[in-house]
Amino acid sequence: MEKFIIKGKTKLTGEVSISGAKNAAIALLPAALLIDGVTTIENVPNISDVQICCKILKTLGAKVKWIESNTLRIDARDLDCTQAPLDMTSKFRASYYLLGALLGRCHKAEVGLPGGCNLGARPIDQHIKGFELLGASVDVTQGKIAAKVKKLVGTTIYFDVVSVGATINLILASVLAKRTTILTNVAKEPHIVDVANFLNSVGADIIGAGTDIIKINGVDKLVGNHTYSVVPDQIEAGTFMIAAAVSRGDILVKNCIPEHLDCLTAKLLEMGVSVDVYDDSIRVTCNKKLQASNVITLPYPGFPTDLQPQIGVALCLANGTSIISESIWDSRFQYTNELNKMGAQITVQGKTAVFEGVKGLTGAPIYSTDLRAAAALLIAAIVANGTSELYNIHYIDRGYEHIEDKFRALGANIERV
Ligand code: EPU
Repeated sequence: MEKFIIKGKTKLTGEVSISGAKNAAIALLPAALLIDGVTTIENVPNISDVQICCKILKTLGAKVKWIESNTLRIDARDLDCTQAPLDMTSKFRASYYLLGALLGRCHKAEVGLPGGCNLGARPIDQHIKGFELLGASVDVTQGKIAAKVKKLVGTTIYFDVVSVGATINLILASVLAKRTTILTNVAKEPHIVDVANFLNSVGADIIGAGTDIIKINGVDKLVGNHTYSVVPDQIEAGTFMIAAAVSRGDILVKNCIPEHLDCLTAKLLEMGVSVDVYDDSIRVTCNKKLQASNVITLPYPGFPTDLQPQIGVALCLANGTSIISESIWDSRFQYTNELNKMGAQITVQGKTAVFEGVKGLTGAPIYSTDLRAAAALLIAAIVANGTSELYNIHYIDRGYEHIEDKFRALGANIERV
């Protein structure tokens, strides 16, 4: 098992270039199965979730090849299988997108119940409801989901909760359906827009992505021979912005879309941090003590749950008492136990955490509990007094490309052993 050894007390300075978005890439790859042709996707982060997704696509008969370090070519002309291997799909959350993509292209799909980080209950009832409304029959038995349909027919689908996964999955299932599908109360995250842009670029007819209602006019076929570039990862960008603030450093975060980070920018300004916004980069500088603040996580454009653990590190070092209310996941405060081992004073009650600001953190052996918790603990270790050992770093490899190289280039002392 690999771990990071981190020597702390580092002020991070310099520039970092943001990779393509994990949560967009792992939707675009299954989306490419809808295309009866060859697609080239650039700016794909080479992270473990993407690597697993590539393996699954190959088992379904797609030809998948890295033609450059961040460019994938996917040829889905000879798709010959609709059963995704259960041992692979159960390792990775976004395997549920194979259901929408295979139903759309092949009219049947069999996929293991999706795995992913343990953040509490992660139901997929809204995905299933949507497929059924489009005419599919869906069976969930023995750890797998099997769906089939003669022909998907568009209809209106109202989601009971705002769900990133269900929104994308129903877009995937609808693009080749008969007639028009209307999705209401949808998620508006940048990766939803990215999936719609990608599919429109190969012939789909999707209108309204990024708003509360998405209309999909079914088309007969999607055509390949197209190159598309994945949107920059706003969560990775936000992670480095927070790292700059917490380490009282100075980081230019390059290759990002600043408007995707408006809520974090506003929060950092409120906490006394300097944030300069340019066309495709953001500079974060901090040379004074952070001020306490309250955070509530919400679907986009609210404060992202995927930056909640990272901002938690900032709040544990801020002047005064702060509160975080987590409204998306039941179990996203597991990282606070590890921060408390480092000297933080955090108490958690259900989906609320109270942070009493402390002067500093002290290095300790700490355990990642999920992807974003791992990123938060890495930031904590970088600024703590002394040395930390960070375990379970396979979590961080799921979603951050070259994470230790990027932090090292900013001055951090991190060794992978
Ligand atoms: N929900 C339901 N029923 C459903 C679907 C969702 O009740 O059928 C609930 C969930 O339990 C949750 C809320 O709706 O309370 C939102 O869940 P959503 O479906 O939006 O989450 P997801 O698609 O499973 C994606 C990201 C997560 C991110 C969330 C929220 C992927 C693969 N995962 O999950 O990313 O936290 O959206 O933005 O895109 C991460 O990257 O670390 C990560 C966990």
